[in-house]
Amino acid sequence: MDIKQAITQRRSVRTYKDEPISQELREKLKSYIADVPSPFNPRTRFVMLDTDEISGRIKLGTYGVINGAKTFICGISEKAFRYEENLGYAFERIILYATSLGLGTCWLGGTFNRANFAKAAELKGNEVIPVVSPVGYPKEKRNLIDSVLVKSAGSVNRKDWSELFFDGNFENPLKRETDHKIAEALDMVRLAPSASNKQPWRIVKSGQLYHFFLSRTPGYKTLLGFDIQRLDIGIAMCHFEMMIQELGLKGKWIDEDPGINPEKNTEYIISYLVE
Ligand SMILES: Cc1cc2nc3c(=O)[nH]c(=O)nc-3n(C[C@H](O)[C@H](O)[C@H](O)COP(=O)(O)O)c2cc1C
Repeated sequence: MDIKQAITQRRSVRTYKDEPISQELREKLKSYIADVPSPFNPRTRFVMLDTDEISGRIKLGTYGVINGAKTFICGISEKAFRYEENLGYAFERIILYATSLGLGTCWLGGTFNRANFAKAAELKGNEVIPVVSPVGYPKEKRNLIDSVLVKSAGSVNRKDWSELFFDGNFENPLKRETDHKIAEALDMVRLAPSASNKQPWRIVKSGQLYHFFLSRTPGYKTLLGFDIQRLDIGIAMCHFEMMIQELGLKGKWIDEDPGINPEKNTEYIISYLVE
């Protein structure tokens, strides 16, 4: 399965078969997780936890949101400059890899018992655990909570191109026909998951540079003690760069603030130079 297929097929799965993942898939996941790439320096680590093994000691709860899952992957990072974007990027690579193996996943940044997961994953001094995801075989039919969550977040909807991608400045929406390959990469950014499906990513094209901005949802930033929408930006970065690579193009992340006047609540994060 290529990246485009994985991105297109991925959706949040909250209802799982009551069946552990096969040894073969577990080994594949484990070796992928062991050296997953990320764009920045903060140290990340990813831990797989099996609920059956741990349940006698610690309850890995998700407030009823996830049903039937027997394994979770924890996304852990040291708290350092750009750790949220970095973790968002790396964790999404794992999510897409799991998807390509036919496994279901669901980003959880809020609805899990963080203290218990932290204990089970043996968090160290400067580490935080912003996200976890169940991994397992999806059940064909969503349970009630799953269906309600999908509906309330409007999970299948995405904003139009004209709200997300711009040419030169925020007044000028990017025309889809500008560049075929880049259009495909941006299509895949548009399908990215984001917390409560807020889709806070904005991209402004300027020549060969693609400037990534964060359009904040008011009130979100401090709610959880970390910047959850920066994780969303990391996910968008992951989709963009993986597509660029899949399409045979090359590029790199650079700090190149274009200094354009962003909209209210919108801030510059990073740029991608397509070479
Ligand atoms: C950073 C992040 C945090 C999330 N946290 C939760 C969560 O705590 N609970 C939950 O049920 N879904 C959570 N989600 C899933 C989103 O609601 C979901 O990705 C979005 O509605 C789009 O739906 P889709 O993933 O099916 O495309 C999270 C997603 C992201 C990217």
